[in-house]
Amino acid sequence: MASTTLSTTATTPSQLGSGKNGVFSPSQALFVSGRALKGSSKRAGAGKVTCQATSIAADRVPDMEKRKLMNLLLLGAISLPSAGMLVPYAIFFAPPGSGGADGGTVAKDALGNDVIAAEWLKNHGPGDRTLTQGLKGDPTYLVVENDRTLATYGINAVCTHLGCVVPWNAAEKKFICPCHGSQYTNQGRVVRGPAPLSLALAHADIDEGKVVFVPWTETDFRTGEEPWWS
Ligand code: FES
Repeated sequence: MASTTLSTTATTPSQLGSGKNGVFSPSQALFVSGRALKGSSKRAGAGKVTCQATSIAADRVPDMEKRKLMNLLLLGAISLPSAGMLVPYAIFFAPPGSGGADGGTVAKDALGNDVIAAEWLKNHGPGDRTLTQGLKGDPTYLVVENDRTLATYGINAVCTHLGCVVPWNAAEKKFICPCHGSQYTNQGRVVRGPAPLSLALAHADIDEGKVVFVPWTETDFRTGEEPWWS
């Protein structure tokens, strides 16, 4: 503890100075003489106040290295539990079935089983278009070509008008939307509105016998235009 008598003309911390044995903190200055203050207001410029200031011994002030260490320990204490909570959330929200090569997704049949290309072709004849579960869970037609091979593309069944699922009409050999009558060719190119765009495409690859849908980012072979969906 140190006390000193200061002139009221002192206005800055540097003018106030420091105690004998330690570091002076301006915020710790405590004006204790009310009478002195009253007196000084009556005799402007002539009064004196008694200032009592606390001081901290220099060897008790935490040095910068210790502060950094404490900050790091605090950061670690907060980060570890936070990371522990975030990992389960990330796993929960990752779409199931994703993670194939090149962002591909194994096609699923109506029962949720992986589509095995050879078995599929046994049960689906030429010209067949049957819905499977594709990228991001979108209903996607798997196409069997006339030569009994699987087409290298799948057709997203979500109508580009307002999002109804568009059924395949085998008799008309078209996709015809039941909601507002939009029509698409057997490859999904729009031929009648109000749908403004063709059905989206996905690559249909075969990996270890399974059909895998992969995002289609190249030119749309039906229109010669850039894919609107990527
Ligand atoms: S949602 Fe298909 S035509 Fe409107």
